[in-house]
Amino acid sequence: MSKVDVVIGCFYGDEGKGKVIDYLAEHADIAVRATGGDNAGHTIEAGGVKYAMRLTPSGILSGHTIAVLGNGMVLNPQVLLEEIANLKAHGFDVDHHLKISEKVQIIFPYHRMLDRALEKARGGSKIGTTGKGIGPAYCDKYERSGIRMEDLYEANFKEKLQHAVESKKALLKFYDPEDTTIDEALDFEKIYAEYSSYAEQLKPYMCDTVTYLHKALEEDKNVIVEGAQATLLDIDFGSYPYVTSSNPTVGGMVTGSGLSAGDIGNVYGVIKAYSSRVGEGPYVTELLDETGDKIRELGHEYGTVTHRPRRCGWLDLVTLKYAKRLNGLTALCVNHLDTIGKFDKIKVCVAYDCNGTVTEDFTTNLTVLNSAKPVYKEFDGNFGDISGCTTYEELPENAKAYIRFIEEYIGVPVKFIGTGAGRDAMIVR
Ligand code: IMP
Repeated sequence: MSKVDVVIGCFYGDEGKGKVIDYLAEHADIAVRATGGDNAGHTIEAGGVKYAMRLTPSGILSGHTIAVLGNGMVLNPQVLLEEIANLKAHGFDVDHHLKISEKVQIIFPYHRMLDRALEKARGGSKIGTTGKGIGPAYCDKYERSGIRMEDLYEANFKEKLQHAVESKKALLKFYDPEDTTIDEALDFEKIYAEYSSYAEQLKPYMCDTVTYLHKALEEDKNVIVEGAQATLLDIDFGSYPYVTSSNPTVGGMVTGSGLSAGDIGNVYGVIKAYSSRVGEGPYVTELLDETGDKIRELGHEYGTVTHRPRRCGWLDLVTLKYAKRLNGLTALCVNHLDTIGKFDKIKVCVAYDCNGTVTEDFTTNLTVLNSAKPVYKEFDGNFGDISGCTTYEELPENAKAYIRFIEEYIGVPVKFIGTGAGRDAMIVR
């Protein structure tokens, strides 16, 4: 491990980052999440129990790793308290293993209501958000009216919250003048009492995480940063506006944690041996036929947070090259090699044909993306049962040829290979 290792999703999320994080956490003293909120969701199986980790860095499941919620996150306290209760119920010493940045932005009920109202107002051009209030919470942050963790303990919290509740009510009524439930749903006294209670319960975890992390580095501790969402959902570099409201690329890991760029060593990019997307937006290698359905079924591609069926398609190396450039990937993790190996023939997108111009360079321009046709290279599949393979050498030749091609095209070694659903079903090279 380097001082700080970063794990990043390369496509549209749900690449299986949790599995790599789980492995790396064994050697890490601290696991940090830097961006997003409970729109994320790793499902991790540990000790026969399935944990849906939405906010808490899943590194905490190692039992020794300190989990840090970085300043770049947006936090729904209720969801976090449920996660804490669940972890405690399964014997985790959360009180000594969780720290929350005092600068984290708090999600309030009006953020979730606005998320849904804005989606409704978009009509046919909705983004397909998770409805967790992520976008509206980040809007408040950047507009500088957000309420941060530390504000919950200030004397003027009540006043600040009252102002926020009143102004959001007016906004919600603007979006939907016929909605008669707004006043009741945003009862200020009720929200104030609820969030005051959350504040009390979360107080022991509040921390100046920037100082904490840097002191830890000075003591030679190892840190992993757990990316949430993924490169193509990045607010700047993704297929805007079909993106999330944070920077899940490597820059967001720095600004969302206070770690410095110079501290980062390994940047692991996680992909599946195919691709998937939830929500709306362009997707060049999407398969709208029975092959796409087969990938969905074989790969169990249904959302952890929203349970929506995921859109599925072949692996897109044009996108992966873009992710490599943006994030400075030093190694790759290819998950679901077993799943793709069940097909007779496997396709991989090696270029886009944009109205006759063939390119290997990704663009976020929606007009170009929506008309781009994938140029495929075909591989032999039928890998057989690879679940028992514990080394790369044991893999069948077809599987090796597939991995080798990805490495050669991207110019980055594949260090982790997912060979099955289990926590340990992973080859490490
Ligand atoms: P939001 O983050 O809820 O605002 O949703 C914006 C877009 O990002 C939607 O297309 C979501 O489906 C997608 N999204 C957000 N979080 C995740 C995630 O953890 N995995 C996959 N897609 C996500």
